[in-house]
Amino acid sequence: MELSLLQEHSLDKIDERIILALDFQTKDEVLNCLASLENQVRYVKVGMELFYAEGSAIVSLLKEQGLNVFVDLKIHDIPNTAKGSMKSLARNGADMVNVHVAGGLAMMEAAREGLEQGISAGSTSPLLIGVTMLTSSSQQMMNEQMLISGRLEETVAHYASLASLAGLDGVVASPLEVPIIKQVTRTDFLTVTPGIRTVGSAFGDQTRVTTPVKAFELGTDYIVIGRSITQAEEPAKAWADMMKSIQEGK
Ligand code: C5P
Repeated sequence: MELSLLQEHSLDKIDERIILALDFQTKDEVLNCLASLENQVRYVKVGMELFYAEGSAIVSLLKEQGLNVFVDLKIHDIPNTAKGSMKSLARNGADMVNVHVAGGLAMMEAAREGLEQGISAGSTSPLLIGVTMLTSSSQQMMNEQMLISGRLEETVAHYASLASLAGLDGVVASPLEVPIIKQVTRTDFLTVTPGIRTVGSAFGDQTRVTTPVKAFELGTDYIVIGRSITQAEEPAKAWADMMKSIQEGK
């Protein structure tokens, strides 16, 4: 791949666009994982598994370590509850939070309002991101189980337009869907893409998957990567190898 494709994303700051999924159940596992990565990580993701076990204190702890934190709770509820949840998350110091686009326009707008009300005076609002279709979902699953007809990319593109209309900052999707999302929204509408696997690592439950280099080549703003790094025999080496492959564009 040509290096120029990555240059738009300013390679020197690329580590601020790589979010490590801390899918653990205890603070100790998190601290061990971060120690094994030798301070190479700048942005982490706290998902339901960790948040439900350790509570909001884990977010404060990670912030104290100077990390950016994506609190990935994928809120999907009635507008009033979504608004209240966002108010609480904003107070907690998260840098990025998310809701399911399937919750609808009113819910997404309420979530945005909750964030604005929750932040303290003078602080900037966390980025509000909409989940389109989970990267573990396939088109067959969407058609047959969710009874949504058509191509999966069309649903993702439609959800991205709705999220943009509701005033969200971006969406979570597969890296493979980034070009269509940018096309139907705008180039600065953010894409946050899980479903990332370093070369040779297992897919696990993910189906719409690609490598970090390919994801950035497709124009993603942030990649989310978990098991390829956290379950590697040598996490620090897996991370360093990934950074090298991104810098070399291969
Ligand atoms: O281990 P892996 O790299 O598959 O981790 C991906 C992370 O991204 C998980 O924490 C998962 O919950 C999250 N995620 C996802 N698909 C989405 C939204 C979030 O895989 N659509």
